[in-house]
Amino acid sequence: MRKDWQNGGFGLYIHWPFCQAKCPYCDFNSHVVNQIDQDRWQAAYKSEISRIGSETKGRTLNTVFFGGGTPSLMDPELVHAVMETIRATWRTSNSFEVTLEANPTSVEAGRFRGYRDAGVNRVSLGVQALNDIDLKALGRLHSVAEARKAFDVARDTFERVSFDLIYARQDQSLADWKAELSEALAMAADHLSLYQLTIEDGTAFGDRYAAGKLKGLPDEDVGADLYLATQDMCEAAGMPAYEVSNHAKNGEESQHNLIYWTYGDYAGVGPGAHGRLTLDGERMATSTPLGPTAWLRQVESAGIGEETRVALSQDDIVSEFLLMGLRLTQGISLSRLKALSNQDFSFKINNLEELGLLSSRDGRLRVTSKGRAVLNGVLRELLND
Ligand SMILES: C[S@@+](CC[C@H](N)C(=O)[O-])C[C@H]1O[C@@H](n2cnc3c(N)ncnc32)[C@H](O)[C@@H]1O
Ligand code: SF4
Repeated sequence: MRKDWQNGGFGLYIHWPFCQAKCPYCDFNSHVVNQIDQDRWQAAYKSEISRIGSETKGRTLNTVFFGGGTPSLMDPELVHAVMETIRATWRTSNSFEVTLEANPTSVEAGRFRGYRDAGVNRVSLGVQALNDIDLKALGRLHSVAEARKAFDVARDTFERVSFDLIYARQDQSLADWKAELSEALAMAADHLSLYQLTIEDGTAFGDRYAAGKLKGLPDEDVGADLYLATQDMCEAAGMPAYEVSNHAKNGEESQHNLIYWTYGDYAGVGPGAHGRLTLDGERMATSTPLGPTAWLRQVESAGIGEETRVALSQDDIVSEFLLMGLRLTQGISLSRLKALSNQDFSFKINNLEELGLLSSRDGRLRVTSKGRAVLNGVLRELLND
């Protein structure tokens, strides 16, 4: 019988937790260190991949995602060795997607060929802004010119290129953002991730904000205007949103992220990496030690980098399925919801449809554009008893 995860596919996430410098807005699991023993990391990744492989024998792997941190600080030899282990562990799909996140500096662009030769076929560049003053304010180590050059090298090297921008920045007007976004759309990426700046606790921006020193951030209304303008401009340029913050040309959606959003199975390797794996008919949530040294030592000494493994309850599964799937423009399959849940959602769905926040047709449930503006409220309403 087909298992539920097969509706979403099977992917592998590999976390590289190091960066050259810590950006003031970032609360990802990323660290700045003096020395990295890449051979030790290579051995640990390989050992973890083999361990997970022995639990998922016979599966076809659809995607790999090297995320960070800054994976473009990895030696191409390390990526090569990891990819060899992956290919020896699983059969890979015909449309096998291998993404690596890269910072757009010239040094890193110099490694792109090596990554391609290792099997990477998609790169996601953290461009963040297309003006030098804002790049500086965001603590970035690259200029716009350097980012554009790295983008051109990526375009020449990889089949698929995506880049990230952060908007709703300090003192950014709607007109500024529109001008910048049209420059970004002219750059011929096939995928764009456009994130509104979030102020996270525990970051340098979080501290500055709490002290009242982070000025010029847009209020909620301006944020909503920026979001709507983003949707309209991307749509008009043939890069509609397929998820809240992600835009792609038709067929260029990130297959790896789609596994998360369509609630497939994924293994998480590396410090702080989460996984969702269906094993012996149960859906397991896995986690690993957050600290790079703690993770590395545990893999080396215990032969397993996993910290927790918990079987999800049916309620957990249904809420995760809805939380992830309703972020997508294509929404969720109602028959899959029915198969996963023993709850009848029709009353709640009807109410939210009457309010114009949800729409169900052709067997799918979607959040409308009105609903998207209050997505968290819609999800709360669906999931509350
Ligand atoms: C792991 S980082 C990307 C990889 C790479 N280290 C880089 O910075 O270019 C993933 C993306 O999340 C976004 N991001 C991180 N922190 C954010 C924040 N506080 N608000 C909005 N976007 C954020 C950035 O666009 C960043 O490119
Ligand atoms: S945004 Fe990227 S480069 Fe900056 S600290 Fe976070 S992961 Fe590192």
